[in-house]
Amino acid sequence: MREDLNVPMKDGSVADDARVRAASPTLQHLAQRGARVIVMSHLGRPKDREPDLSLRPVAEDLGRSVGQAVEFADDCVGEPARSAAGRLLSGQVLLLENVRYHNEDEENDPGFARELASLGDIYVNDAFAASHRAHASVVGVAAYLPAYAGELMEAELAALHRALDDPKRPLIAVVGGAKVSTKVGVLTNLLKKVDALLIGGAMANTFFKAKGWPTGTGLVEDTALDEARDVAAEGGEKLVLPVDVVCAQKMEAGRPLRTMDASKVEEGWAAYDIGPRTVALFREKLNGAGTIIWNGPVGVAEIEDFAAGTKAVGEAIAASGAYTLVGGGDTVAAIDSLGMADRFSHVSTGGGATLEYLEGKELPGIAILQEA
Ligand code: 3PG
Repeated sequence: MREDLNVPMKDGSVADDARVRAASPTLQHLAQRGARVIVMSHLGRPKDREPDLSLRPVAEDLGRSVGQAVEFADDCVGEPARSAAGRLLSGQVLLLENVRYHNEDEENDPGFARELASLGDIYVNDAFAASHRAHASVVGVAAYLPAYAGELMEAELAALHRALDDPKRPLIAVVGGAKVSTKVGVLTNLLKKVDALLIGGAMANTFFKAKGWPTGTGLVEDTALDEARDVAAEGGEKLVLPVDVVCAQKMEAGRPLRTMDASKVEEGWAAYDIGPRTVALFREKLNGAGTIIWNGPVGVAEIEDFAAGTKAVGEAIAASGAYTLVGGGDTVAAIDSLGMADRFSHVSTGGGATLEYLEGKELPGIAILQEA
């Protein structure tokens, strides 16, 4: 099995186990049916065997979530992996050490993939969140074993398909985040499909500047002004920008706040959240939606003073009655900290993978399953 157990760690423990919980049903169902389940995953981006990026602590959380002890092997290949796999009994689960302790994983080295594959009889990819990576543990192993999708993979793809390819209309997307350049593919692809695209977050500044509006000390991506202009021209009426913004002189809690017209941000001030008129405008668009896709907070949601916009937009999405899909790392962290995670139809485990899917790109880990 390939799972994405790339979870945030703090002081040697799992800080957020959402991906562990999401991985568990497929593991449980296979174990209950008598399979010997061997799990591969990466954690972080280690340069070599960085002890802080060991998956060992994750095995305990995984055990709690699956409801049985999970064995652990100190390496994903070689003697430690072979002997642990050999000891495994029917119905047991084994987690292998971080596959990225070997550079060969990211290189999609065929010898390494073959060695991983030699541990099992069937390959199941349940790691939607890692399927944009053409790595040995995601793609390479499928050359040596019959390959299938796991239940989490199926659920993620069904949700994306429902929202993007066969949506109940109107289809509204809310896209936030800091940079236009990292989201331009998503914006362009979504504009082909949606009825309205609502923009928030620091990237709105780049759109403001592209229109010739002053942006004060706000974060602007000067190298992406042309891209912003192109997206705005392509989007026309569909593209909805903030009309007012909450500004401060520094991105810090406890500073004086002022709400300014989006076209009149004063010198020395920067926009850190959408303003109340924008919230009302967005709410009006979201109210009658049939489907909503949300990617990216609309303000600096990790600082309470600038979280009101993201909270209000999240509320409006959750209360809309639409089919709601939330994806992308920052968005999920924001709805978690606002205590709203249970209120959406589907919350994707994917960060980069969800973005690439929303861009309309083919994900190699999924393409390989379709071939298989
Ligand atoms: C993620 O967290 O988006 C995935 O686990 C992929 O991690 P990566 O960007 O290090 O490949």
